[in-house]
Amino acid sequence: MNKVFTKKIKTFDNAKSGLDETIFHNANGYIGVRGTLEEGVPAEWDTMRGMYINGFYEVIPMKQAENLCNFVDKKETMLNVCDTQTIKLNVNGLDFSLLTGKTLSNERTLDMEAGITSRAVRWQSPRGDKISLNVKRMTSFEELSLFTQEYSVTAENFDGELVVSSLHLPEVYNYSDPNDPRLAADSEQFLHCITADIKDSISYTVTETAVSKLRCAVLSAHALDAKRSRVCVSKTDDNTFIYNAVIHINKGETITLTKYTIITDSLRFEDPLKTGFDKLSAVLKNGIAYYYEKQRRYLTDFWSKAMMEIQNDNEMSLAVNFNMYQLLQSATKDSFGNIAAKGLSGEGYEGHYFWDTEMFMLPFFVLTNPRLAKQILKYRYQTLDKARENARLLGHKKGALFPWRTITGVECSGYYPSGTCQYHIDGDIAYAIINYYLVTGDLDFIKDYGAEILLESARLWLDVGFFDKDRFVINMVTGPDEYTCMVNNNYYTNMVAKYNLEWAVKFIKLLDDKDLSKALRKKLKLTDEELTTMSEASHKMFLPFSEELGVIPQDDSFFDKPVWDLKKTPKSDFPLLLHYHPLHLYRYQVCKQADTVMAFLLFPECADKDIMKRSFEYYENITTHDSSLSKCAFSVVAARLGMRDKAYSYFGNSAKLDLMNLHHNTKDGIHTANMGGCYMSVVYGFAGLSITEEGCFLNPFLPDKWEGYTFKFGYMGSVLKVEVDQTNVKISLEDGDDVSVNLYGKLQKITKKTPAKAPLQ
Ligand code: BGC
Repeated sequence: MNKVFTKKIKTFDNAKSGLDETIFHNANGYIGVRGTLEEGVPAEWDTMRGMYINGFYEVIPMKQAENLCNFVDKKETMLNVCDTQTIKLNVNGLDFSLLTGKTLSNERTLDMEAGITSRAVRWQSPRGDKISLNVKRMTSFEELSLFTQEYSVTAENFDGELVVSSLHLPEVYNYSDPNDPRLAADSEQFLHCITADIKDSISYTVTETAVSKLRCAVLSAHALDAKRSRVCVSKTDDNTFIYNAVIHINKGETITLTKYTIITDSLRFEDPLKTGFDKLSAVLKNGIAYYYEKQRRYLTDFWSKAMMEIQNDNEMSLAVNFNMYQLLQSATKDSFGNIAAKGLSGEGYEGHYFWDTEMFMLPFFVLTNPRLAKQILKYRYQTLDKARENARLLGHKKGALFPWRTITGVECSGYYPSGTCQYHIDGDIAYAIINYYLVTGDLDFIKDYGAEILLESARLWLDVGFFDKDRFVINMVTGPDEYTCMVNNNYYTNMVAKYNLEWAVKFIKLLDDKDLSKALRKKLKLTDEELTTMSEASHKMFLPFSEELGVIPQDDSFFDKPVWDLKKTPKSDFPLLLHYHPLHLYRYQVCKQADTVMAFLLFPECADKDIMKRSFEYYENITTHDSSLSKCAFSVVAARLGMRDKAYSYFGNSAKLDLMNLHHNTKDGIHTANMGGCYMSVVYGFAGLSITEEGCFLNPFLPDKWEGYTFKFGYMGSVLKVEVDQTNVKISLEDGDDVSVNLYGKLQKITKKTPAKAPLQ
């Protein structure tokens, strides 16, 4: 039950429709379709009528006010590729619209077991004709190019005529909001038709971008189930295709139009149009029921590995499932894309990939689907050469610096103080690779991809930092907190750099021991002297600490600044980034998001508990959580520090962030990183899971409001199920070889017959 979300829509207005477009979007990691209404909304409404392809982009100019040396002068942007969602309905001469006539009932459903969204509307036309409209939509996990709509109309109280007009528009615009820096400023049409025609009633188009020269093919086919109908497909001068069906319907009768859209692109396919036709012919042969069945099976498998159940809290259970489902919808299934900050649900952040992937979303995939995690990590390897070039542009003689935001691996951040300057992204990617290795033991991945990334990032740290007597320092970088920019010795950055340097050397030694390092050493012209310097830099990494406060400062100068009075700041001033000049914010102790606290999340042993607790409380008072990546991090750390109520409250906020639109911008797309953070709050926070070189550790507690919770995770190829109830903790082996886990400090071997058990603490 808690995998089906139904929303009864009582009032239908501009303020809420964008939100529902996001919540009810369909995506499969390759394509994403906003949950816009088939019949559309008034032109002046704030709608984002988008269909997207992961990793498909146009290159556009980055307008810099003063174009200084090596500034980013162009960026990639995700494209709205077409509109095949539109289906208009006319009932006895009157257009169906929720803004005319009478809406008798209206609800939308997301079924996360079936992998389908649906609409159920009962409507009475101004003339009194009553219809029920049911629409089911799916982006298929079986055939990633496929988007389907099953559009059914029942005549409740009349005999008469329906006209169903289904559109295929290849030339569409991207969305924009000039007043919000988190969206593109200008609305543009990036794709232009090079082919547009009809064959056997199938409309097909190929569009192309002007600069990236990428092509996208869209094909649209229809199957109508109606007794008496006349159908034709035509094309207008502006390349719009209209499938028109005039249907005679009798009272009590239902007609169904099934619309199949196939989308392919030239990044993945040599001849996207031919591939599109091949795919469509297979799809039409198989029929929609086949894909519904495959969708359900795919999701049964997904949920069997990603299951998380919360006893006696259906609402929270639903929220957690919703978040995991969205992660699945958003994650690329091939090596041409990654996971955008908004997944494939909207145009916020222009489809860019950030550190969000490695730090927030990947832990979920590493623990529940390591194969996919590996695929996602490989994307960074494919972009390593571009990261090397990026480092050169910034003046580094050695190493690689991954871009702050990107689609293909080139830097797309126009505002470097809180963009490119976030060098921690190198350490984040390194951390994710190490984490993947610690959970899976996959040394082959390290040999083929991981070690090279870590070594190139380690070289970057050696180039950007330097030995200052007996300390290694890193100056002029920005940590995760975007309200504090360009500082010396950001604690978070120095921690991830230290770890990155340490593990670069460790990986080479691990590979040396197995005689697997020769090719890599040769390729990188790696010297032992360089490795020694890496170890030394790691050992001597400077980590700031204030003796006076007993607190870890975010950076060298953080405590020299006045504290921003958050209590006196009017509510309407949040998020601060939309109301204050960045320079103003930089001069205060005020944090957009977890920074030092984020370091505690990654490195639970980095300081003693008292220091962490004092620091946590210190940052809590000056953090606005204007970034959605913040509360989940506070939740995990609060849980580990024993602040259970606080942990739960931060978690609750993170869990419902999109479903309840807590950041007021879900209309622009989901907050994918937060969704991964929500998962971490339960698994790393409440269950206290950590996987290190020393093994797998769990220290579960039960939030007061819950009677129990259950989840599964993978460790060294085995799948474990954790069950926590009011008295006991049980960890059983679901699949794979026997493993040992450390439960509340006691090592226990788990076999199929003997689970690990302990009384709840
Ligand atoms: C956050 C970044 C994040 C980006 C994309 C920003 O608001 O400050 O940490 O990477 O959003 O989610």
